[in-house]
Amino acid sequence: MKVYKVKDYETMSQKAAAFLAAKMILKPDALLGLATGSTPIGTYKRLVEMYQTNDLDFSGIRTVNLDEYRGLPSSSPNSYHYFMKENLFSKVNILPENTHILDGSNPDTESVCQEYEDKIEKLGPIEVQLLGLGHDGHIAFNEPGDEFADRTHCVWLNEQTIQANKRFFAKEQDVPRQAYTMGIGTIMKARSILMLVSGSQKAEILKKVLEGPVTPKVPGSILRFHPDVTIFADEAALGCGQTG
Ligand code: GLP
Repeated sequence: MKVYKVKDYETMSQKAAAFLAAKMILKPDALLGLATGSTPIGTYKRLVEMYQTNDLDFSGIRTVNLDEYRGLPSSSPNSYHYFMKENLFSKVNILPENTHILDGSNPDTESVCQEYEDKIEKLGPIEVQLLGLGHDGHIAFNEPGDEFADRTHCVWLNEQTIQANKRFFAKEQDVPRQAYTMGIGTIMKARSILMLVSGSQKAEILKKVLEGPVTPKVPGSILRFHPDVTIFADEAALGCGQTG
């Protein structure tokens, strides 16, 4: 695991975009694993800028997203479908048929999850999986628990996650209580992983990810067992000291 300390959110976003751009240039038909949340917004902005200046081509790029709220149609402004369209897909020359996100509007958990696993298997392996870190240590929507969930599945969101994500919704009751998410095993199969962490409110959990025991109680800690993980974390998230 390579941990790079960066100055702030802007620098983190710049470096993350450069990292992803390098992968895209080397492999123009790469399958990218994408993430949502506040953390990657700056990265997507930079990628859009690179596209606008003709420095990046998305025409062959394929994507799979980590997760989606269960019960939200893709047209909902709070869905991750909508987020991806707003922040990236509608602004670059990616082909819509090359973008894949779990179908939150389909209540048939079994088939949604199985189809997604099959899809990743067919399209994969994921060249680089972008990850944020939840306040409770979750990656994608793999919440803390007694075991690491292997494959794509349906989860109940933790109270802490509902509280953290309610800022995107008009009111707390609107936050869906369930989500579909890639499993830890699905994520760990990616060839490489890029995790971004920003802000002092993530410092405590990031320390646990980096230095605590590897445990499903801190899902992000499993990344220590992956052979190719890069973390760009800003000074606030790292506290002081740690550099890579
Ligand atoms: C959300 C997403 C995660 C994301 C995390 C952190 O619940 N499902 O994929 O990494 O929370 O979000 P943020 O970047 O807004 O802190």
